[in-house]
Amino acid sequence: MFIGAIGCEPLQLARVGLENSQSLETYQRHGGYEALRKVLGGMSPDEVIGEVKKSALRGRGGAGFPTGMKWSFVPKDSPKPKYVVCNADESEPGTFKDRYLMERDPHMLIEGMLIAAYALGSKAAYIYTRGEYRYLIEIMDRAIEEARTAGLVGEKILGADFNCEVYTHTGAGAYICGEETALLNSLEGLRGHPRMKPPFPAVAGLYGCPTVVNNVETLTAVPDIIKMGGEAYQKLGTEKSGGTKVWSVSGHVNRPGVYELPMGYSDMEKFIMEDCQGISNGRKLKAVIPGGSSVYIMPASDIEGKSVKMDYEGLVAAGSSVGSGGFIVMDDTVDIFESTKNLTEFYKHESCGWCTPCREGTDWLVKVFKRIARGEGKADDAQLLLDLCDNIEGKSFCPLGDAASWPIQSAIKKFPEDFRRHLTPLVKTEALPTMA
Ligand SMILES: Cc1cc2nc3c(=O)[nH]c(=O)nc-3n(C[C@H](O)[C@H](O)[C@H](O)COP(=O)(O)O)c2cc1C
Ligand code: SF4
Repeated sequence: MFIGAIGCEPLQLARVGLENSQSLETYQRHGGYEALRKVLGGMSPDEVIGEVKKSALRGRGGAGFPTGMKWSFVPKDSPKPKYVVCNADESEPGTFKDRYLMERDPHMLIEGMLIAAYALGSKAAYIYTRGEYRYLIEIMDRAIEEARTAGLVGEKILGADFNCEVYTHTGAGAYICGEETALLNSLEGLRGHPRMKPPFPAVAGLYGCPTVVNNVETLTAVPDIIKMGGEAYQKLGTEKSGGTKVWSVSGHVNRPGVYELPMGYSDMEKFIMEDCQGISNGRKLKAVIPGGSSVYIMPASDIEGKSVKMDYEGLVAAGSSVGSGGFIVMDDTVDIFESTKNLTEFYKHESCGWCTPCREGTDWLVKVFKRIARGEGKADDAQLLLDLCDNIEGKSFCPLGDAASWPIQSAIKKFPEDFRRHLTPLVKTEALPTMA
């Protein structure tokens, strides 16, 4: 498996291959905590937020919301405590970059969180991981202790008038707990279902206090932004999608892995055929889901010869989205009906049951998929699936409902043959002519 940068100097993956990359000593020897020193050495919180705004960093958790803007929504005059929460739930199918960032370079995350905490006036920062990532908690806890011993976490950090504790917390492995408000409920010890928005967490988040929730990759980008300056970081990418992006590549490629690319990397076909060394077993490319399962599937015809740019704008123009950066490649042996059925079973399983359209709708979707798979598909079942999606999308309490609908809608639109094949009306056995 490949781990490294293509088309740019590695930033987020700069230290992942070093010996003892988890240790404070290695981190500091390679520029670690310099950004925190710079911040505490004379930058005001507003200046820090200003640099993050200039960087055009967009949240890497899926929605791509501008990070600097999110930070500026935290009310400065609120008398309540403020919190920084790192979303390390990483439950999106096909996504495994946050795991590598934490596993190989835990101090980068701690430094990013401390800088965020300083900028937002927060004295406590939490790392929330999915239950399956429990082993990462040990790595993060060890790194936090190391940082505390070196005066980088706790009271009077680096001798400055800045106190901040960093805590870890695991969920029980529920996809919905990656949704930021469900995550906050879970962190508070409540049932992990989403909260009504507004109010957004920046105003009323953890324990009803102003809270910024950011993805691991978002926070680990912050030390480099501070070190090189927001403008220089932005220029590594495009005007609206600054910096570099880490993609986790899986599926039918010869070289799967964790790839750091400049935002706007061009083009996706070259990325698959050259950087990922082409489709395995000499097969042909059939489809790509570029941003984790909750984005539109792209057929090869939307990629080959199309110079698709790999950034937020480029992927939207190409009919999909950056999402979580979980880049799933499928060859021409894949039946898109089967792969979509598989994803739909995932969404049904992970629906938290809080609202009716998603709870009931995902169950009906699976029932229809299963019936078709048993060979009992009716000619208008593709339309029935689309109607069910229409009753879920935009009518559910949180985006999980939309996310369950999008793969089906795009799969039926882009791969009608894969559905039609299963829907050929079958001749009933009793209707067959009998031999005299
Ligand atoms: C069902 C669902 C699951 C999600 N899972 C994750 C996740 O595992 N990790 C993540 O960072 N964001 C996830 N998100 C997005 C978060 O709600 C939130 O937008 C994100 O953590 C904000 O961080 P960012 O601005 O750095 O992207 C999920 C959203 C939904 C609706
Ligand atoms: S859309 Fe699904 S996951 Fe979201 S609140 Fe409703 S039932 Fe829960």
